[in-house]
Amino acid sequence: MTASFPTTRLRRNRRHNWSRRLVRENTLTPDDLIWPLFVCAGRDLAEPVASMPGVERLSADRVARAAGEAKSLGIPAIALFPQTPPEKKDEDGTEATNPDNLVCRAIRAAKEAHPDIGVICDAALDPFTSHGHDGVIRDGYVANDESVEVLCRQSVVQAAAGCDVIAPSDMMDGRVGAIRAALDAEGFEQVRIMSYAAKYASGFYGPFRDAVGSSTALKGDKKTYQMDPANGDEALREVELDIAEGADMVMVKPGLPYLDIVRRVKDRFGVPTYAYQVSGEYSMLRGAVDRGWLDGDRVILEALTSFKRAGADGVLTYFALDAARRLGE
Ligand code: PBG
Repeated sequence: MTASFPTTRLRRNRRHNWSRRLVRENTLTPDDLIWPLFVCAGRDLAEPVASMPGVERLSADRVARAAGEAKSLGIPAIALFPQTPPEKKDEDGTEATNPDNLVCRAIRAAKEAHPDIGVICDAALDPFTSHGHDGVIRDGYVANDESVEVLCRQSVVQAAAGCDVIAPSDMMDGRVGAIRAALDAEGFEQVRIMSYAAKYASGFYGPFRDAVGSSTALKGDKKTYQMDPANGDEALREVELDIAEGADMVMVKPGLPYLDIVRRVKDRFGVPTYAYQVSGEYSMLRGAVDRGWLDGDRVILEALTSFKRAGADGVLTYFALDAARRLGE
């Protein structure tokens, strides 16, 4: 209960920097950041991603170096996304289960150089399929159960390479439980699962698909497996199922346009909850900052803090390094 004006003047606490700090409800620290990195073939390479200014695809050796930078700034984990050479893609995404594929080589390079940084990898087939979908296609439909079998093998191969967290991003039904069982059966019971539990069929993934080279391949859209942006209650059902199947952490994606979902998930389940500030969100902010339309010193940390305010325990963000530097200043 608050006394009314003029007894109460909420501006009193806002008057000085020290009192603003004293009443601050949420704080962003480097501990809250996960840095997604794109991996390309080759050695000592860093190629710019055209639709994501400031973001580069890195060869595995450079990924190891980037992991070191992240670690030195206090960022707990990186997430790796491979740009599979087109000649290695096929209808069934078989390259996903090759223990020597690009992402596995990058995992090994990062973990050998920096064993104490967390490495997160997607379980999904889109970087590996010639059609750009997250699963295998049978009779014109992304086949759920058969895709899940491949995802299980992909997860085991990545865990064997040293991946700490498997992040199923495919939105197949039942994949979290199946992946948990497959990991356990191979002795990887310590490998965590961060599920992309509420992942929407969003237009904000456009630049990511350029970065991993799946946009030119993708035929159609992902609406038969990713969620309808109009739905909120359904997100809670997705999250509930994933928790029941053994997810250690859950994620909502995209981020800023779905903060209501982050809040509802955190309030309902109270589990470690993450938001993915996706490629399109990055490019919108970066583009406006680069043109001088927005002030980067303000909007980057402001947007990231909003995830904390909405209840997220952490954020996957392409601004991770930039944000960690700003936080350290
Ligand atoms: C793959 C995947 C996507 C993203 C993360 N994992 C794209 C998609 O589902 O089409 C998007 C990340 C981003 O836009 O930054 N399933």
